[in-house]
Amino acid sequence: MTEPHHEVTVTVNGALHRATVPARRLLSDFLRHDLRLTGTHVGCEHGVCGACTVLLDGRNVRSCLVFAVAVDGAEVTTVEGLAADDGTLHPVQAAFRDCHGLQCGFCTPGMVMSACGFLAEHPDADHDDVREGMAGNLCRCTGYAGILAAVEQAAGAFRATGADPRQQHRPEVQP
Ligand code: FES
Ligand code: FES
Repeated sequence: MTEPHHEVTVTVNGALHRATVPARRLLSDFLRHDLRLTGTHVGCEHGVCGACTVLLDGRNVRSCLVFAVAVDGAEVTTVEGLAADDGTLHPVQAAFRDCHGLQCGFCTPGMVMSACGFLAEHPDADHDDVREGMAGNLCRCTGYAGILAAVEQAAGAFRATGADPRQQHRPEVQP
């Protein structure tokens, strides 16, 4: 039996994409295989590790738990959409670099995207809030101290500039 396909129109990192996808195509596979945005990583494939986290209409989702057909008409941001056009790192990415928040880097895209969504909703997060907010993302290298320090540094950067952590970094418009 032929699997039904569906048309989807989705904005990813500001670019509009139209595609025909099988009903069971996962958003993570759609991003990685159809759009070639391989920064979104896939670890557990059942919603536990957080490596596949992206922003869906500004909120964190695990893309391995979402069907591509379900994002028709939505806006998705992946880790590829964060740095400025000139390559300047987004404040969360810069903080991970500064605070040694990455080791092998496998969990990093999901950590970064989770931090963006979390900090947008909790701009005044303190250490304990950050710890709780990032608790759903697993790092196999167990570099959690650096990761938490990075998210705290990024929180301070956003408080200082008033920028939205979910937006592509635009250094030229920062105060
Ligand atoms: S790959 Fe989606 S949560 Fe682990
Ligand atoms: S840095 Fe290796 S899994 Fe987190």
